[in-house]
Amino acid sequence: MQCLVTGAAGFIGSHLCERLLRDGHQVVGVDAFIPYYPRPLKEANLMGLLPHPRFRFHSLDLRTDSLDQALEGAETIVHLAAMPGLVRSWTDFDLYNSCNLTATQRLLEAAGNLSGLRRFIYGSTSSVYGKNASGDETLPTRPCSPYGVTKLAGELLCRSHLEERGLPLVVTRFFSVYGPRQRPDMAYNKFVRALLEDQPITIFGDGQQVRGNTFVEDCVSALVAVMDAPVGETYNLGGGETATLLDVLGRLERIAGRKARVVHGEAREGDQRFTGADTSKLLHHLGWKPRVGLDEGLARQVEWQRGAAARKVA
Ligand SMILES: NC(=O)c1ccc[n+]([C@@H]2O[C@H](COP(=O)([O-])OP(=O)(O)OC[C@H]3O[C@@H](n4cnc5c(N)ncnc54)[C@H](O)[C@@H]3O)[C@@H](O)[C@H]2O)c1
Repeated sequence: MQCLVTGAAGFIGSHLCERLLRDGHQVVGVDAFIPYYPRPLKEANLMGLLPHPRFRFHSLDLRTDSLDQALEGAETIVHLAAMPGLVRSWTDFDLYNSCNLTATQRLLEAAGNLSGLRRFIYGSTSSVYGKNASGDETLPTRPCSPYGVTKLAGELLCRSHLEERGLPLVVTRFFSVYGPRQRPDMAYNKFVRALLEDQPITIFGDGQQVRGNTFVEDCVSALVAVMDAPVGETYNLGGGETATLLDVLGRLERIAGRKARVVHGEAREGDQRFTGADTSKLLHHLGWKPRVGLDEGLARQVEWQRGAAARKVA
């Protein structure tokens, strides 16, 4: 099958491309290297992919560039390209608006011309639920950050293309993905970096925020599973183990064998209090469940960050 992955140089996208190649597919990756975090990190994410004979990469911006060549022959599209993270969405709204909405609309327009498209999978987020994102897909959507609003609007845009033009849409809402190559702005990456470099760690708020930790390999296996999901479905995609930030920090201290120096900062606007996915629907529809426990996943992230620090790429 020919699969197009947008955001292929990013954290989740690069893992997905690797998995699809291992499964024998033709993979086309698209990314614009948006400098939200340093380009060399994204280039490092692509290193294992570029030499592969069944991988093609297009460095292009979904907001402005022609998409026809990259999309030619696509049978499955997994749309992961976006501006992630809530903090900057308060101060740089135009970037979030254009990368999460204009880019999505242009991709949807181009996808509408494909005759062999089987599925269009939109990578959404627990942030569409807002402060308390705990439960199944029937939770009301009440995003509490501009990021969450743009991602929800992206979902709705996709849904209008499903309803009016027959787009074979499936929506997946990710819950706090972690593991090797995690974005450097994400909490666990920052915690591990600070532990390894003996730097202070800032906990925003009281540290009792709960996260529905999803190991990146589990996230990717769910994305592969939903390629056969019924059109029109939405799935919560989360790991099996929730934990507070302070609990995760304690586990990281044990894994890294270092003690954290914690500094407390003001709670961040739009931060979620509780995220925990009920993933029964993924289990019942597609037989998917998360496989990697939190301690194992965190150990694999620490190991990767140790190696990346040695190579000076994280
Ligand atoms: N990482 C998580 O925990 C998490 C949680 C919920 C949802 N998500 C969603 O998953 C997706 C991937 O997240 P990630 O953590 O891998 O982020 P990432 O920033 O590592 O990857 C996203 C990639 O998209 C690219 N991109 C952005 N705008 C683009 C454009 N206009 N044209 C082409 N490429 C563009 C970026 O350059 C980047 O490499 C995003 O849609 C995000 O909203 C992630």
